[in-house]
Amino acid sequence: MRAKKAGYDCVQLHSGHTYLLSQTISDFYNQRTDEYRAADFKLLRDVLEAVRTVDIPVGVKLQCDDFIEGHSMNVTSACKIISALKFDFVEVTGGGQGGGAKYPTIRAGKDQYYYRHVIQALKAQNLLDKQPVIVTGGFENVEDAQMAFDDGVPLVGYSRKFLRNDQFLIDGDAKKCVRCNQCIISLGQGTTAVCSLNNIE
Ligand SMILES: Cc1cc2nc3c(=O)[nH]c(=O)nc-3n(C[C@H](O)[C@H](O)[C@H](O)COP(=O)(O)O)c2cc1C
Repeated sequence: MRAKKAGYDCVQLHSGHTYLLSQTISDFYNQRTDEYRAADFKLLRDVLEAVRTVDIPVGVKLQCDDFIEGHSMNVTSACKIISALKFDFVEVTGGGQGGGAKYPTIRAGKDQYYYRHVIQALKAQNLLDKQPVIVTGGFENVEDAQMAFDDGVPLVGYSRKFLRNDQFLIDGDAKKCVRCNQCIISLGQGTTAVCSLNNIE
């Protein structure tokens, strides 16, 4: 209600990056066996229903892979959630505890488009047509995003690249983000997020 009054066009539930809502849908974190067990994603459903009482579009940033071997928060459960719940848009994301091992730091030029496996699964189940899908994670330049557009995704997100060069869509790819994650570390140290490469290049 406050978002609507403040003039926002939509709200996004954060159910990713091992924040609370995403923990409720992962059986690594949520080991309940009652109706709130991870497989039934009831808390996410309840929160969505509560926010739906306000007349404003509601999307979700959805954990689609914890990258934790042997646990349930993976492509299959993400597809199940997207199939069952009505969001106005879905931003595909993932990571957290298992992501660090899967994607170690400094990996310029490889592993772009982290969530392609999720997009391909959504496409195979005709879930890309159910609502607009945004995919964020790993894109280093404009060409990388084209891979997602070719897969049928209408929107992509960039984060660290903008800290490296917020004009990159105009300037091209001269200043490379190597995805070293120092910007995230700088944020944890209480400063605004900065790209450490911008101090030396
Ligand atoms: C400095 C920094 C702060 C971030 N803060 C948030 C945040 O508050 N909420 C969020 O959902 N994601 C946050 N992210 C994650 C990004 O939205 C994005 O999912 C992630 O960086 C992967 O995209 P990229 O490869 O384009 O950087 C942050 C990322 C960075 C680098």
